[in-house]
Amino acid sequence: MDCAMNYETLKLEEKDGILTVTNSRPQALNALNTRFFVEMGALLKDLSVRTDIRVMVLTGEGKAFAAGADIAEMVTMDSKQGSEFSLLGQAVFQAMEDLPQPVIAAINGFALGGGCELALSCDVRVASTLAKFGQPEVKLGLTPGYAGTQRLPRLIGSGAALHLLLTGDMVNADEALRLGLVQKVTAPEALMTEVGAMAAKIASMGPKAVRLVKRLVRQGMAGDFKAGCSLESELFGSLFGNEGAEGMKAFLEKRPAKW
Ligand code: HXC
Repeated sequence: MDCAMNYETLKLEEKDGILTVTNSRPQALNALNTRFFVEMGALLKDLSVRTDIRVMVLTGEGKAFAAGADIAEMVTMDSKQGSEFSLLGQAVFQAMEDLPQPVIAAINGFALGGGCELALSCDVRVASTLAKFGQPEVKLGLTPGYAGTQRLPRLIGSGAALHLLLTGDMVNADEALRLGLVQKVTAPEALMTEVGAMAAKIASMGPKAVRLVKRLVRQGMAGDFKAGCSLESELFGSLFGNEGAEGMKAFLEKRPAKW
C-alpha cells in the first residue's frame, strides 16, 4: 500500500485480493485519534485506485474494534476544534462509503461511539459474540460526531436508533443482530475465518459487478429512488459486452467465469 506512509495506528495484510486492515492501538482500546484519520484517509485514497484489491476487511486488535473517538485528545478541544475533528472523521468515513471496493467490518469487541460509527460506515458487519455496540456520547455530554445520528437511524430505524443514542446503552452481538445493526454473529475464534470466507466469496464474483452493486446501493440510498433505478439500468447495461457477457457465457458453457 502507500509506502510513503509509516502507519502507526494501522496494520495491513494483503492476500489474494483481500486487504485486512487492523486498527492497532490496543492500549487505548483503538480509540480514534487524528493520526488514525490521517492514516485511514491516505490508505483509502491509495486503495481506491487499486483494482487488484477486491475487498477490504476492517478489524481491531485486542478487546476493542474501537472504543470511540479519543477522549484524551478531545478533552482540551474548543468548539472550533471539536467541529473540525468531527468533519475530519466524517470525511474519512465518507471515503470508506465511497470506496469502490466493499468493506467488511469484523467486529471483535467494543464498537462504541466513533467506533460504532466506524462500523456503520462499512458495508457489511460481522460481530464476534464478544462485541458490544453503543453510542455512549450523551454520557459524556456529547452527541455523536461521525454521522452516527444519520447512519444509525437509516440502518435500524429511528426508534431503535434513538433508543441507543439517548440512553447510551450498550447492546451485545445477538441484540445487534436482532436490530439489523450487524448481519452475522460468530464465535470469537471463528470471526476472521468467517469474514475471510465472506471476503473470498465476494472477491470471486464479477469484479466490476461487485463495485457497481456497492455504488448503486450507496448512491441510491443517499438519493432519490427513481434516479437510483435509472442509474441501475445504465450500469446494468454497461456490463454487457464485457464482464456480464463472460459471466453469462460461462454459465451456459457450464464452466467457471474468467474475469
Ligand atoms: C481514549 C480510551 C477510550 C476512548 C478507552 N480508553 N476508551 N481512551 N478514548 N474513547 C482507554 C482508557 O482510558 C484506558 O486507558 C484504556 O483505554 C483501557 O480502558 P478501560 O476503561 O480501563 O477498559 P475497561 O474497564 O475494559 O472498559 C472498557 C470501556 C471503557 C467500557 C470500553 O473504556 C469506556 O467506557 N470507554 C469510553 C467509551 C466511550 O465513551 N466512547 C465514546 C467516546 S466519544 P488507561 O491509560 O487508563 O489504561 C465519541 C465521539 C465521536 O466517540 C465523535 C467525535 C467527533
